Amino acid sequence: MKKILITGALGQIGSELTVKLREMYGQDNVIATDIRKTDTEAANNGPFELLDVMDANKMMELSKKYNVDTIMHMAALLSATAESKPVFAWNLNMGGLMNALETARELNLQFFTPSSIGAFGPNTPKDNTPQDTIQRPTTMYGVNKVAGEMLADYYYHRFGVDTRGVRFPGLISYVTPPGGGTTDYAVEIYYEAIKNGKYTSYIDKGTYMDMMYMPDALDAIVNLMEADPSKLIHRNAFNVTAMSFDPEELAAEIKKHIPGFEIAYDVDPVRQAIADSWPNSIDTSVAAEEWGFKANYDLSSMTVDMLEKLKAKL
Ligand code: SER
Repeated sequence: MKKILITGALGQIGSELTVKLREMYGQDNVIATDIRKTDTEAANNGPFELLDVMDANKMMELSKKYNVDTIMHMAALLSATAESKPVFAWNLNMGGLMNALETARELNLQFFTPSSIGAFGPNTPKDNTPQDTIQRPTTMYGVNKVAGEMLADYYYHRFGVDTRGVRFPGLISYVTPPGGGTTDYAVEIYYEAIKNGKYTSYIDKGTYMDMMYMPDALDAIVNLMEADPSKLIHRNAFNVTAMSFDPEELAAEIKKHIPGFEIAYDVDPVRQAIADSWPNSIDTSVAAEEWGFKANYDLSSMTVDMLEKLKAKL
């Protein structure tokens, strides 16, 4: 990983991944691409190119122009948006992925793309969900993610492309808000706690989902990409997570710092159904064994950091 092209570089993960990789590998060695430019650090502090991931030719052209050795494909629609636009989600999520995999195959690039807890479904074991288990998701996003996991494995076995990936849980960060995901409530709640001292959750109490703080997610990406390939039995879709909570537990944690904070509920049936189809908590032991995955933040340390950083930002 010496020269990296990132798609979706101004998105929820990409915007922070770009900055971190530039610090590690040099500013000019990380090429940020996205469908539109925003006035952000990731866009302004190093090479940036407009790229619609559906445009295979431009993806290839940019990868050649910058002579990259790695492609990190982050551009995708999240679960709730994909549910409202399933055909577009299929075209973008699968079309973009195929273009990125083909670019990696033709140019012999190392490849990363994230999967998600969304790749599991209602008949997946809900607690301590194993690495290898039943995956019959009931959402378009989940169908895309399962197909993506399998395609990435296929490109490794069939063509020898060095594909790697993780299944991320809900990611929480104070930098770039997510958009159109089911786990977004766990980010919004911090903003609202600081701004208004209350939050109305579209996810019901008692709904447990896996979550992770962004610094741990970025470390996971870098550590997996730098892992000794001979140790990797799985290559893609490693289960990773740091914590599992429901809205009540998250609210109680915030209340420790903002005593007047209150949570209310106005459940969105679409996103609730998606959340109900996902695991309560997944098992990360395979990622720990094969490449040393470990998360540093738990609910309490993440909440301290989120509130401190967001107060400064807002
Ligand atoms: N955070 C994502 C979503 O909710 C999960 O991959 O869609």
